[in-house]
Amino acid sequence: MSVLPLLSLTPPEWAHSVLQDPIALLIDHAFLEKKAANNAMDMMTRWPGEWLPGWVETMTNVARDEAAHLAQVTRILTRRGGRLCRIHKNPYANALRAMVRKGEIGDTLDRLLVSAMIELRSCERFSVLAANSQDAELAAFYNALYSSELGHYKVFLKLAQKAAGKAEADARWQEMLEAEARIIAAQPPGPRIHSGY
Ligand SMILES: [Fe+2]
Ligand SMILES: [Fe+2]
Repeated sequence: MSVLPLLSLTPPEWAHSVLQDPIALLIDHAFLEKKAANNAMDMMTRWPGEWLPGWVETMTNVARDEAAHLAQVTRILTRRGGRLCRIHKNPYANALRAMVRKGEIGDTLDRLLVSAMIELRSCERFSVLAANSQDAELAAFYNALYSSELGHYKVFLKLAQKAAGKAEADARWQEMLEAEARIIAAQPPGPRIHSGY
């Protein structure tokens, strides 16, 4: 856990609270996986500058992983009697996306870093859920996702460093880490992956 560079860490009480409504948590989670898949597909055709080797492969790999996660979470959800609803809001991701600057490299860099940040926080939340879930199926599921989202976080950060240069990417990443700690703290509580506590 300590390897994650987040500036605020989620307490176990958050997991105890959101796990009281696992169906709502799974519904929210399913939408996040769908959005992550969509995001990777959108990013696929936004390569910075001329061409960045590995770009298309990375984005298609991430999209494939996220679609697989969506299938898994939906399977668990429906087996437990839940269903996806039509509408989903994620004010946490919206607040992060509001940090994306206009202009070619700023735009690309910020989108990559926002993607990395959402993966990083999701990864942290899955580890807290895995450690605090009494439900063996959910604990195993969250644990598996922890590893996968950790890989995504690293790959997005690496691409950001390649796209904008390490110094610029790292400086912007620090700004975003500080903003993220404020944004997550401002979220209302509730059975969602990115809720406050
Ligand atoms: Fe995922
Ligand atoms: Fe991911």
